Amino acid sequence: MRVVSVSSLKGGVGKTTVTLGVASAGFARGLRTLVIDMDPQSDASTGLDVVMGNHLTVAHVLGNPKPQTIRQAIAPSGWTKNHRGTVHAMLGSPANMQFDTPVLTKREIWRMEEVLAELEADYDLVLLDCPPSLNGLTRMAWTASDRVLVVTEPSLFSVAATQRAFRAVDELQRAVSPRLQALGAVINRVRPQSIEHQFRIDEMREMFGNRVIEPPLQERVVLQQAQGSATPVHLWPGESAEEAAALFDALLARIQSDVPIGPGN
Ligand SMILES: Nc1ncnc2c1ncn2[C@@H]1O[C@H](COP(=O)(O)OP(=O)(O)OP(=O)(O)O)[C@@H](O)[C@H]1O
Ligand SMILES: [Mg+2]
Repeated sequence: MRVVSVSSLKGGVGKTTVTLGVASAGFARGLRTLVIDMDPQSDASTGLDVVMGNHLTVAHVLGNPKPQTIRQAIAPSGWTKNHRGTVHAMLGSPANMQFDTPVLTKREIWRMEEVLAELEADYDLVLLDCPPSLNGLTRMAWTASDRVLVVTEPSLFSVAATQRAFRAVDELQRAVSPRLQALGAVINRVRPQSIEHQFRIDEMREMFGNRVIEPPLQERVVLQQAQGSATPVHLWPGESAEEAAALFDALLARIQSDVPIGPGN
């Protein structure tokens, strides 16, 4: 089971879009995929077309990580209604907020890891869609993860946030979880014609070296359309969707090939 947190310390840069894109790639490849919606806004649960019903949520699981609670918080994605595959979501809810505290006890920080130990045999790929902060929810997600996929945009503020994110991953690795590493940063919402974007991309390549995941993801209306109809991009028609899907396939391949990337490499 490969466990990856999708994070950025800045809001709205595309964490949920990337989570859904990689989940869609996993779905297309027949991987048993679980998306854990750490974000109190629950956008990933919406994008996965999950019916809440009587399901419990991530907040219940973090409060009481018993096997039965964990199972009751997992629901199938609507993506698999007419297509074979295993894509599940552990549902987000505003109640997740109560765990987004600046300080966690040692026991609390390992809680999501404890939860995933219970699910080890059930999934090939686990993606944790994180909120845009470095508080409790993100720390619990990272401590449960093998890798952190940082999402960023080609803008000044995002460059700074990416640097902070890499530093924070390295710190958590040293202080808490030796297996944790940054997978790298994927630059999202790139407009190829923008000179400012090109400048920021070059800047990030210079600053972060091979921690920048190539190629960047372009701004594409199809991603919004697919999200708007809660459909995986791999099932969305047209050339633009196909090209986006291929980039998410490449991102999944990078996750699976798992090349260790050390600080400063
Ligand atoms: N490559 C892209 N092309 C077009 N639209 C995009 C792209 N990436 C993200 N978006 C759009 O930008 C908005 C924000 O993206 P998203 O919700 O994925 O960001 P986020 O980092 O998860 O935000 P938050 O911090 O609120 O969780 C969404 O409407 C999404 O559809
Ligand atoms: Mg999000």
